[in-house]
Amino acid sequence: MARTVLVTGGNRGIGLAIAQAFAKQGDRVAITHRGSWDPATAPDLFPVVCDITDPAAVDAAFTAIEAELGPVEVLIANAGVTDDTLIMRMSEEQFSRVVETNLGGAWRVAKRSATKMVRARWGRMIFISSVVGLLGSAGQVNYAASKAGLVGIARSLTRELGTRNITANVVAPGYVDTDMTAKLSDDLKAQYLKMIPAGRFATADEIAGACTWLASDAAGYVSGAVIPVDGGLGMGH
Ligand SMILES: NC(=O)c1ccc[n+]([C@@H]2O[C@H](COP(=O)([O-])OP(=O)(O)OC[C@H]3O[C@@H](n4cnc5c(N)ncnc54)[C@H](OP(=O)(O)O)[C@@H]3O)[C@@H](O)[C@H]2O)c1
Repeated sequence: MARTVLVTGGNRGIGLAIAQAFAKQGDRVAITHRGSWDPATAPDLFPVVCDITDPAAVDAAFTAIEAELGPVEVLIANAGVTDDTLIMRMSEEQFSRVVETNLGGAWRVAKRSATKMVRARWGRMIFISSVVGLLGSAGQVNYAASKAGLVGIARSLTRELGTRNITANVVAPGYVDTDMTAKLSDDLKAQYLKMIPAGRFATADEIAGACTWLASDAAGYVSGAVIPVDGGLGMGH
């Protein structure tokens, strides 16, 4: 059965691959962007402008999606940022902005989705975390904290909404080639590669595969889980 899916940050990178995977299986897919969207990229996606740190923008985006595609039944909280530096150099602004985007933004879209999912007695929430949320990462205190926080959100939602046929899970990717990782030095990339048992980085489609599965009927009894898609880097954590 076709569902209404929202992928935040679905205009590029991992989010775009996730959005396209759902569209390919026949779902109605909305994506958020902040101004950089060329409809020629994927004409079947429904784009809405939304900064997830702005509650009014989130509400307006959901209202537009509900009018065009119906209530969001599958939420993929994917939008995220990094701003890496060691803790002694990390400013209040660097910490707050990353946490507010990655954790606050995910909370905001989950909250806005929840009422309609409860009413429908069906829903799937998927939070895109990172292997570093549980593994830690030097220079990423802000990012790792925000990504670990998503586990707390998903597990609490599982307890709050589980009886309503709503699941909430976390997907924890390892290293994926996107704009986010393009800024890392070749040295650092080579170091990461050595640590990954699979001996390669992930494709964005491999992250998308975990998401379509978690949203499927086959995964209806999976909730509060952290699904690593990291080539073994986190060894199941
Ligand atoms: N790449 C990796 O190796 C990797 C590994 C583990 C986890 N992840 C996670 O996977 C997710 C996607 O990463 P990516 O590599 O695809 O990143 P990316 O290419 O840098 O894309 C980031 C996306 O997030 C959106 N975004 C950022 N701030 C936003 C805000 N305030 N409001 C709305 N949208 C916002 C961006 O929208 P704009 O185009 O408008 O900027 C863009 O669509 C992130 O949560 C990231 O932490 C990535």
